[in-house]
Amino acid sequence: MKTINVELAANAYPVYLGRGLLSQAELWRKHLGRGKVLVVSNDTVAPLYMHKLRPVLEGPQAELHVIPDGEQYKTMETWSGILDKLVQMKARRDASLIALGGGVVGDITGFAAASYMRGIRFLQAPTTLLAQVDASVGGKTGINHVKGKNLVGAFHQPAAVFIDSATLDTLDRREFSAGLAEVVKYGAIHDAPFFDWLEAEADAIGARDPGALDYLIARSVTNKAEIVAQDERESGIRALLNFGHSFGHALEADTAYKRFLHGEAVAIGMVVAAGLSEGRGLCPGGTSGRLAELLLRCGLPVQIPADIPVEGLARVLELDKKALASGLRLILLEAIGSARIDDRSSESEIIGAMRSNQQNSSV
Ligand SMILES: NC(=O)c1ccc[n+]([C@@H]2O[C@H](COP(=O)([O-])OP(=O)(O)OC[C@H]3O[C@@H](n4cnc5c(N)ncnc54)[C@H](O)[C@@H]3O)[C@@H](O)[C@H]2O)c1
Ligand SMILES: [Zn+2]
Repeated sequence: MKTINVELAANAYPVYLGRGLLSQAELWRKHLGRGKVLVVSNDTVAPLYMHKLRPVLEGPQAELHVIPDGEQYKTMETWSGILDKLVQMKARRDASLIALGGGVVGDITGFAAASYMRGIRFLQAPTTLLAQVDASVGGKTGINHVKGKNLVGAFHQPAAVFIDSATLDTLDRREFSAGLAEVVKYGAIHDAPFFDWLEAEADAIGARDPGALDYLIARSVTNKAEIVAQDERESGIRALLNFGHSFGHALEADTAYKRFLHGEAVAIGMVVAAGLSEGRGLCPGGTSGRLAELLLRCGLPVQIPADIPVEGLARVLELDKKALASGLRLILLEAIGSARIDDRSSESEIIGAMRSNQQNSSV
């Protein structure tokens, strides 16, 4: 087992990583309070993994709350259903909530933990690659509003994160690849040696070699922990984690969140942003091609599909820009392993970058 500490000013917490961690009762007990325990999972993950948690739940008074599977259930209703359950259990301030599932379960359970009695203990057991390398670390919790994704939420750090990488054995290929987009992102913005390693090990990663996966998760969590520790509330460097996300978000919104998984949209977005950086002369020629090649090997798309007009994407970006007031903020690459925040892109430069990505026959 490996432990990575997330060092925040007010509280530090461990991220444990290893195969079989879900059943390590001793380790869990160190972090569970003395009160009642509620495990929140969904109707896909609970049947697969709830039994693994049984040894952990033998001591405390514990219950399971199953929510329906899907981003469309990351709502006020599902959140208040968790609160109802806590009230019904007569849970007090010493209670603990455990999130067993992907990012949806993690975000909604975290927000319930942040709000019940102004904040109770929260433990994460992420089961998708995306949740393991990204969503479970950093304390962002929340739900969707009909007017927008993640519009309602709070910062609430977990007391500990338990990453059982054996859970990835049942994750489907598309979801697995989507998680890899965020992994490649850490290499691209912050960790050039990791990017080199990903290139060297892409085949082993695709075959889900356990050693390669554990290394990749640990290195990703270390990167995220480092960045979050420097900027817990996203006033500066944490924004670099949004590399590829403005374009990705535009693609997701323009296709009503139905066509792309988040990681797929981000993969395309990163290649567009790298292309723009290269066009500006900020990073060496060939950088976006190198990034695209690795993403393709990870099973990800790297080009805006020909049937999506870039003007529609530009309109979504325009809305983001208005929301910011200060102009559109993009994360651009200076090289593989180094990124910067940039507020200077003009509309024509942005449209040009999207168009050349869409028309480029070599990616
Ligand atoms: N809080 C953050 O910092 C943060 C960061 C990134 C994303 N997010 C949020 O995370 C969510 C996306 O998370 P996600 O990609 O994990 O999606 P998800 O939670 O919807 O999980 C994807 C699918 O995989 C299934 N699944 C989960 N674990 C499985 C397993 N081990 N085996 C088989 N199937 C499994 C789920 O039931 C679901 O159908 C979004 O709502 C996003 O806003 C939050
Ligand atoms: Zn993301």
